[in-house]
Amino acid sequence: MPVVTIESVGQFAGQLVTIQGWLYNLREAGKLLFPIFRDGTGTIQGVVSAKENSGAFNALKGLTQESSCIVTGKVNPDARAPGGFELHISEIHVVQRVAESDPYPIQLKEHGPDFLLENRHLWMRTPRQAAILRIRAQAIHAARNYLDSQGYVLTDAPMFTPAACEGTTTLFEVEYFDEGKAYLTQSGQLYIEATAAALGKVYCFGPVFRAEKSKTRRHLTEFWMCEPEAAYAELADMMLLGENLVSHIVQDVIAHRPRELEAVGRDVSKLSAVRPPFPRISYDEAIAILQKSGKDVKWGDDFGGDEETVLSSQYDRPVMVHHYPTAIKAFYMQPDAERPDRALCFDMLAPEGYGEIIGGSQRIHDYDLLIRRIREHGLSEKSFQWYLDLRRYGSVPHSGFGLGIERTIAWICGTTHIREVIPFPRMLYRIYP
Ligand code: 4AD
Ligand code: MG
Repeated sequence: MPVVTIESVGQFAGQLVTIQGWLYNLREAGKLLFPIFRDGTGTIQGVVSAKENSGAFNALKGLTQESSCIVTGKVNPDARAPGGFELHISEIHVVQRVAESDPYPIQLKEHGPDFLLENRHLWMRTPRQAAILRIRAQAIHAARNYLDSQGYVLTDAPMFTPAACEGTTTLFEVEYFDEGKAYLTQSGQLYIEATAAALGKVYCFGPVFRAEKSKTRRHLTEFWMCEPEAAYAELADMMLLGENLVSHIVQDVIAHRPRELEAVGRDVSKLSAVRPPFPRISYDEAIAILQKSGKDVKWGDDFGGDEETVLSSQYDRPVMVHHYPTAIKAFYMQPDAERPDRALCFDMLAPEGYGEIIGGSQRIHDYDLLIRRIREHGLSEKSFQWYLDLRRYGSVPHSGFGLGIERTIAWICGTTHIREVIPFPRMLYRIYP
């Protein structure tokens, strides 16, 4: 008997197949049982009749939710069944029976978010959560594929670092043997500036850490970032790469994960428009738009979630806001030659209120300016000697950006909170499970 996945049963219509999975739900109607099985690739409804197959009927009757079982049956096309096929069961082998006295905690009813997060290790079995994790895998695959196809070389950055990249207020400190304090990295950027000078076009892809005391639906303390960096590249090159990368990810998910997008209830028509070119507005223009819409902002202010939502709601695809004030951005950003109070940087804001998904910039390549900025920001010159070397030995204009993976996936899936799009979210008040 071929062992098949539920996702592929359509190819076996009319044949006997075996499915290895779990009992998701069971409806009993007299002498008929209608179980629903899941195997991680999808769900399928089965039917067993007491008259035709008493062995399988008795094995299944009263079986508890999430008991693991191996099921054999004939794949029958059935227009009424979700997925279009029903399994006419002939044999069932229960691998582990969930005890009646200790039933599976997540029933097929609404549960509160705290309960679900406390049971994240089980919650991820529900079809919606499994679909989100499949979309995540697809999006990551698409991101890497795209960068690989453009000649970007994957060079991983370290997780332990001696210094801050994105400001000193969100560092997680660790004791590092006799070396004293080290920090969990906030971004691989500084390190891939070195690999970019070695290899030309590079990227890193990994978890980053921010001790953010924010409780918003957009913040995690541990999240994943995809960071391309290129030597001899300027701000405009990175904005082009950013819009191409993001549209590739979105279109790839639409093409390869239609069932999962449907399972999460995503309105795909909203994503179809996500193709280049994306609109570009300067920070100055953004301020004017915000003021016109009644927001109390002035030049020099940073944008919060509310401002980002107002800006992004003007467009049907992500918008790129460029040339923010130098004073509100990171120490390494190259100031605009004509107006040094503005940095050569951009943020990409996702539509539908999902906020900033990309932050990027051209980097300072001049030694004297960089050391001045390091001092102004009160950063340790000693820890940055290696970074300054990149400006001593063959410095060139170079640029890059960081794409926040969870924010991007939350937007693609249309989830209200980004905690749903990572297997085990880490947040201000959550480190379990
Ligand atoms: O804008 P950020 O802080 O940029 C950097 O870290 C640069 N060093 C990247 C680079 O140029 N190579 O962060 C980049 C992105 C944000 O746009 C956002 O999508 C995401 O990372 N992000 C978060 N995602 C989840 N939780 C948080 N606390 C996040 N902080 C930033
Ligand atoms: Mg940012």
